[in-house]
Amino acid sequence: MTGETTASAAADRSLELLRERALAAMERAYAPYSHFRVGAALLASDGSVTEGCNIENASYPVGCCAERTALGTAVTRGNRAFETIVVATEADVPTPPCGMCRQALVEFAPRLLVVSVTRDGRENRWTLDQLLPSAFTPSFLESR
Ligand code: THU
Repeated sequence: MTGETTASAAADRSLELLRERALAAMERAYAPYSHFRVGAALLASDGSVTEGCNIENASYPVGCCAERTALGTAVTRGNRAFETIVVATEADVPTPPCGMCRQALVEFAPRLLVVSVTRDGRENRWTLDQLLPSAFTPSFLESR
């Protein structure tokens, strides 16, 4: 195998692992109100993976998306740089992250690869800057 082939095989294996972890996290979602379970697996630049699931609440706006659950846990663990997030839902089509999660993620990883998967193997992928162009980032706070 060439170096390039090896790198892409490793990337495929890493994505497959993230997909499995996101689907497993989805099984642990607490979504008694929407019945829309979501799981996320966030790959940090140091190779560690943190999962999250959506956690709903009887006071509906208090609920948290899977992506922000994963991000909060990863930051708490000391990670601030991320490569990839895989999002799994029970929808028939791959679903992109909501706007609030896009903004939360861009703070730490403007070039993040976002991969959305379904249980039957469908997949869509974007970069975060495709999903959130002209984002408001920390640098704007310095430009006063
Ligand atoms: N949800 C996520 O966890 N991630 C998204 O990107 C979209 C929506 C959750 C929020 C709520 O618990 C349920 O899916 C229905 O909106």
